[in-house]
Amino acid sequence: MKENNENGIHTDFTNNMTYGEYLKLDQILSGQQRLSDHHDEMLFIIIHQVSELWMKLILHELHAAVDSIDKGDFQTSFKQLARVSKTQSQIIQAWDVLSTLTPSEYMEFRDKLGQASGFQSYQYRMIEFALGYKTDHVLKIYQKDPVLLEQLTEAYKRPGLYDVAINSLANTGFAINPDLVNRDYTQTYTADESVKKAWLTVYHNIEKYWDLYQLAEKLVDIEDWLQQWRFRHMKTVERIIGFKRGTGGSSGVGYLKGVLEHRFFPELWDIRTEL
Ligand code: HEM
Repeated sequence: MKENNENGIHTDFTNNMTYGEYLKLDQILSGQQRLSDHHDEMLFIIIHQVSELWMKLILHELHAAVDSIDKGDFQTSFKQLARVSKTQSQIIQAWDVLSTLTPSEYMEFRDKLGQASGFQSYQYRMIEFALGYKTDHVLKIYQKDPVLLEQLTEAYKRPGLYDVAINSLANTGFAINPDLVNRDYTQTYTADESVKKAWLTVYHNIEKYWDLYQLAEKLVDIEDWLQQWRFRHMKTVERIIGFKRGTGGSSGVGYLKGVLEHRFFPELWDIRTEL
C-alpha cells in the first residue's frame, strides 16, 4: 500500500522508481573524485562535467537537425537548432563561474592533471565534426577504446550541418559546384564561390527563399556562439595560467587564439560585406 505523508506527498517507494533512480544520480554524483585535497578542485571537475553534459545535448540536437534538413523538414530543424544555440549560451555562462578560480588556487592542483586536457574532449571534437571542421587527433588519442573509436570515426566521416545545408541549396535549384555534393566528408569544408553566390541570392530574395534564409541565420547563430565560447575559454585560460603551456602540450593561449581564426560557414560571413 502507498504511504503518503501529512501533505499528501508520496514517501513509499519500495516498488516505485524514485527521481534519483530515474536520473542515475548515484552514478552522476559519485563521479567527482578530486585527485588533491584542494577545495577548489571540486569546481574544476564540476565545470568540465557540466560542460560535457551540455555538449551531449548539443550533439543530440545537431545530429537530429542534420537528419531533418536532409529530409527537407526545415521547420523541425529550426526548433532543434534553436535549442543548440540556447544550450551554447548556457555553456558560455560556465566561464563566469570558472573565473572565480585564481591562478594560485589552480596551481595547487594543476600537476595532478598530468597530460589530461580539454584538448582530448571527444564530444567537443564531435561537435566540430558536425560543423564540418575535421581534425583527426582525437581518433589517435582514443585508439585504446574501440567502441568510442568507432563512434568517433563514424562522426568523422559523416556529412556535417553545412553539407546538408549546401545540398538543400542544390535541391532548390542553385548551381552548386558538383564537387561539393557528396564531397569527401573527412576533409574540413573550405569556401566555394558557387555557395557564396547561392547565399547571396537567398539574402537578396528573402521572401522567395524564406526557409533557406532562416536556416542560414540559425547557422550563423551557432557559429557566433561557438566563437564566443572559444573566446571566453581563451580569456579565462589567460586569466588563470597566463601564457604557460597547456597540460595537453600546446602553446596554451597562443594555440587557443589560433583556433579562433577557423570559420565553419565561411560564405555566410563573406556575404555580409557584399549585402
Ligand atoms: C582552469 C581552467 C582551464 C584551463 C587552464 C584550460 C586550458 C586549456 C588549454 C591551455 C588548452 C589548449 C590545449 C592544451 O595544451 O592543453 C585547452 C583546450 C581545450 N579546453 Fe580548456 N582549460 C580550462 C577549462 C576548460 C573547461 C571548463 C572546458 C570545458 C569542457 C575546456 C575545454 C577545452 C577544449 C574543448 C579544448 C580544445 C580546444 C581546441 O582544440 O580548439 N577547458 N584548455
